[in-house]
Formats: sequence, C-alpha cells, structure tokens
Amino acid sequence: MIIVTGANGRLGRMVTERLLACLPAEEIGVSVRDVERARDLGARGVRVREGDFTDPERLAHAFEGASRVLIVSTDSTGETAVRHHRTAVEAAAAAGAERVLYTSHMGSSPSSPFPPMPDHAATEEALQRSGVPFTSLRNGFYAASAVMLVGAALETGVLAVPEDGPVAWTTHADLADAAVLALTGEVLDGLTPPLTGPEAIDMAGIAEILTRLTGRPIRRVVVSDADYRAQLLSHGVPEHAADLLVGLFAASRQGEFAPAGPALAELLGRPTTPLADVLEEMAARTA
Ligand SMILES: NC(=O)c1ccc[n+]([C@@H]2O[C@H](COP(=O)([O-])OP(=O)(O)OC[C@H]3O[C@@H](n4cnc5c(N)ncnc54)[C@H](OP(=O)(O)O)[C@@H]3O)[C@@H](O)[C@H]2O)c1
Repeated sequence: MIIVTGANGRLGRMVTERLLACLPAEEIGVSVRDVERARDLGARGVRVREGDFTDPERLAHAFEGASRVLIVSTDSTGETAVRHHRTAVEAAAAAGAERVLYTSHMGSSPSSPFPPMPDHAATEEALQRSGVPFTSLRNGFYAASAVMLVGAALETGVLAVPEDGPVAWTTHADLADAAVLALTGEVLDGLTPPLTGPEAIDMAGIAEILTRLTGRPIRRVVVSDADYRAQLLSHGVPEHAADLLVGLFAASRQGEFAPAGPALAELLGRPTTPLADVLEEMAARTA
C-alpha cells in the first residue's frame, strides 16, 4: 500500500488523484489531519486515516501496512517543521515501509537564508539516518509561488520586490507526476537532482513576460529588503511570513534556485511546463 500524507493539500491531492488513475484504489492510503475533507477519496475506495505529524501513535495507525510513504513537507518552519518531519520519517520506518519519499526542495541547504531550506536539509539528514531506502524529491520552486509574488503587479503595473536572481519555477502538476513515478517505480533514489522547470527566470524576466502577455507595461522596480519587509508588515503580513519572504529573495540572489536541469523532463519523458504558461493563465484569470 502506498500512503500519501497531506492529501488534503494541493500537491498531496494531485499525487493521490494521479495514483488513483494508475493503481487500484485499495492499494492507496492517505494520512490526513481532517478525515472529513478526504471523504470523497474514501468513497472511491482509498483508505483514509487520520494522521498528524504531532502525534506518533496516530501516525503509526495511518501508516500501517505501508510499502511506500510519501511525506509531504508541512507549511511550518524551524524546529517545529524538523520535529514533525522527523516524526513522520520515524513512523514510516517503524511501519516497515520499504521506501520513504519526501518532498524536499531544490535549494535544500543547512546555510540558506530562506528558512525552509535548512529544515529540508535537516529532514534529509533524518532520512539518511533512518536506515530505510529513501527518495528526497528536490522539487523546483513552485510556479504558484511566483504567481503569489507577482500577482499584485498586474493591478499596479509595478513589480516592486527586492533584488533577486533567476529561479527555476516548476508547476505542482509536473512535480506530482514525478512523485507518482517515484512512488510506483524504481526511478529515483536518495537525494534527487533538482526537479525543475525548463529555465530559470528572474523578476525582471517575469515583468517582461507579463508585459508581453497583457500588452500593458509592467515595470520591475528593486526595493531594499527593509522597505519590502516594512511594506509587507503594513499590509498585515505577520512578521514571521515577512521574514520568510525577505529570506526567499536573499537566497534567490545568491543563485540558490537557479539550476534548471533536464532531470524532471527526462523523468517525465516530456517537456515540463514553462512559467510563461502559468503566467498566461494568471493573466487570463485576472483580465
Ligand atoms: N517547492 C517549493 O517551492 C515549495 C513552495 C512552498 C511550499 N513548499 C512545500 O511543499 C509542501 C506541499 O505543498 P502544497 O502546495 O501541497 O501545500 P499545502 O496545500 O499547504 O499542503 C500542505 C499539507 O501539509 C499538511 N500538514 C500541515 N501540518 C501538518 C501536520 N502537523 N501533520 C500532517 N500534515 C500536515 C496540511 O494538512 P491540512 O490539509 O490538514 O492542512 C496540507 O495538506 C508545503 O507544505 C511546503 O512544505 C514547497
């Protein structure tokens, strides 16, 4: 049985839907915090069990009989995130899983200024120590994050963010396809190469694409980290989230998200989705 955590979240749900398209439902289980929200999966024959990374006993029940477990990283950061991910890795190993898969990040690094990156590196250490074969899917930067960062520029005509660097933006759909291949085959082992979209694009590049797509000038303006942080706070963004975003730009201008390799396209056997396609959809939605 393949178990997917975070199946009420965006990536975990996409992976589960794809597994349902290629495996009998009784070979798929989900570990979710809210079983009510996964009721539809249960109705289609998926085993739905409550699992929370804060609760090892419940997790043992959710992972029971697992041959492979996909641990979808959570949205917390720091010691909390690492503790939760370690708990999940240990529970998967204790359940007898023959392979543990984890949604890491292309920028996983103990020294990154972007807070989730040291968390991923610490989880990868836990995977290495677990003694169980593992696959750490070093996912490219979500294209959905680019949409979140630049959405307001469509209204204002100004893309005002800190100095940045090129980022290999990657869609959830491509990453979900890759996760399914890794869950159902023998294609990826250990720390994967960066699983990324076809090219790395910086904010100036995004402004150019948006200008072309909308026919309206979108101007890229560099603001200081401090001004950007202050602006986020003034819009009600909590301090923690503001620091996270400032860290994102610091890491990006160090080139931490720049490598855009062929690994994902080769794995999928098809071209991956360019960021321009994602931005086009966004522009159409907001037109
Ligand atoms: N590659 C990238 O650039 C990038 C960018 C942003 C985030 N990420 C990472 O990728 C993950 C998946 O992305 P996504 O878009 O699917 O995010 P998402 O929709 O927010 O899903 C996150 C999932 O984590 C689950 N979760 C949170 N706390 C948990 C806990 N204590 N125990 C068990 N599960 C818990 C959530 O459960 P509920 O459904 O019950 O809330 C949710 O299903 C994110 O959580 C984040 O770690 C990667």
